[in-house]
Amino acid sequence: MTQSKKKDDRASSRHYNFTTAGPVDDYLYSMLPKRDEVLAEMEEYATQHNIPIVGPAVARVLQQLALLINARTVFELGSAIGYSTIWWAQAVGEKGRVIYTDGDSKNVERARGYFARAGVSNRIALHKGDALEFLSEQKQEFDIIFNDVDKEDYPRVLRLVAPRLRKGGLFITDNVLWSGRVAEKNPSEATTKAILEFNRRLYEAKEFYTTISPIRDGLAIALKK
Ligand SMILES: C[S@@+](CC[C@H](N)C(=O)[O-])C[C@H]1O[C@@H](n2cnc3c(N)ncnc32)[C@H](O)[C@@H]1O
Repeated sequence: MTQSKKKDDRASSRHYNFTTAGPVDDYLYSMLPKRDEVLAEMEEYATQHNIPIVGPAVARVLQQLALLINARTVFELGSAIGYSTIWWAQAVGEKGRVIYTDGDSKNVERARGYFARAGVSNRIALHKGDALEFLSEQKQEFDIIFNDVDKEDYPRVLRLVAPRLRKGGLFITDNVLWSGRVAEKNPSEATTKAILEFNRRLYEAKEFYTTISPIRDGLAIALKK
């Protein structure tokens, strides 16, 4: 096995089971501007340690969406080492606020270090614990809620989101094509079934206007009406 094939088999932000894999995907990634030192280091760390971050192509979409709606508050469910969190923090600006959540204390400590080095600590509140529980306690309406937790929990996340998002706000969810498994005829995996239920309910929900962008592993973007 070649070195590059080995690298592709790891759970990096670019592995070749995704629906948009191949030469067009290579082209798309080749166009991305170089990331700063901290983000580049995080991408490398995530690849080496099989941490499934969104990666730079999706992160740019996230940041662009935040800039488009002039977002100042973001609640992130499932933040890992804080890669996507930093892209949000850059988008919300000096006075913005991003809530980081993760259940793994090692992730929280690593993320804290990256936030300090990236100069965005003052825009981020770190929460260690269950992201759904913490979201359910929130009384405010956010501009963006980003969902990247365990996939079995996606239908439960959907039930929590609408009252905690402002009108014109965005509910964004990663991995909604699940490496193409959503197209299986008789899916048996609980994760695939949960994502299918989530996607169906999200499109049906009266509160949202939803599209799925097939970038990387599929990104659902739902506008709160
Ligand atoms: C896909 S990773 C997040 C990647 C991150 N959004 C990024 O792109 O940089 C998912 C993370 O969610 C965390 N997680 C999963 N379910 C969770 C839950 N219910 N509450 C808190 N954290 C959770 C896991 O510990 C894991 O670190």
